[in-house]
Amino acid sequence: MAVQISPSILSADFSRLADEATRVEGIADWLHVDVMDNHFVPNLTLGLPIVESLLKATSLPIDCHLMIESPDRWAPSYAEAGAGSVTIHAEAAKAPVRTLRAIRSAGARSGFALNPATPVDYYEDLLPEIDMLLVMTVEPGFGGQKFLDVMLPKLSRARALIEKHGGEVWLQVDGGVSAETIERCAEAGADVFVAGSAVYGAEDAAKAVHDLRALAAAAQQA
Ligand code: DX5
Ligand code: ZN
Repeated sequence: MAVQISPSILSADFSRLADEATRVEGIADWLHVDVMDNHFVPNLTLGLPIVESLLKATSLPIDCHLMIESPDRWAPSYAEAGAGSVTIHAEAAKAPVRTLRAIRSAGARSGFALNPATPVDYYEDLLPEIDMLLVMTVEPGFGGQKFLDVMLPKLSRARALIEKHGGEVWLQVDGGVSAETIERCAEAGADVFVAGSAVYGAEDAAKAVHDLRALAAAAQQA
């Protein structure tokens, strides 16, 4: 699958989110929005009202990453609001099949995220319910952390499982993705790349997206 880049607004200026979205419009594929509730992760960001406002403010499809304790309760509302993709965490969902189906029925792509210590093989049977598998390459909660390269074998295993099941599921990587690490992620099989500090910490965010895409695409073809 062609490389997709999903800049994370966690590293953007929260007082000017609409403008920050505009900086990558027309160049990024998605806008990655990290919803954190201070329970599932030790950080608090934003929720449904801000996502609803962002949906009106940008033409980019929104990729909601829910780092919250009760995704079963909240995920369908993000899909109903118009998010293009809604990702729930394996460690938080109590009824993942029901919730993934509810996301799809509300018209969004269903995403399923795995923390660094969560094995991918265990979830193989859920792949038919998943449109995008997210392998975290940092412990979730904060932007700007160091990429955990011990996760690269898990990414490769995830890619192999996806291929075994027909190759339709997108494989997203999130955490420490930058010009230094994106090629290794692409080689391991990722095709959707979240980048927060590498995009919003750059002087020219659009150029950063462009450069990341070029590096990933070249590594994918190698
Ligand atoms: C971390 C979030 C990420 C974060 C990534 O828990 O899920 O989306 O914004 O930030 P960087 O790219 O700076 O590691
Ligand atoms: Zn994220």
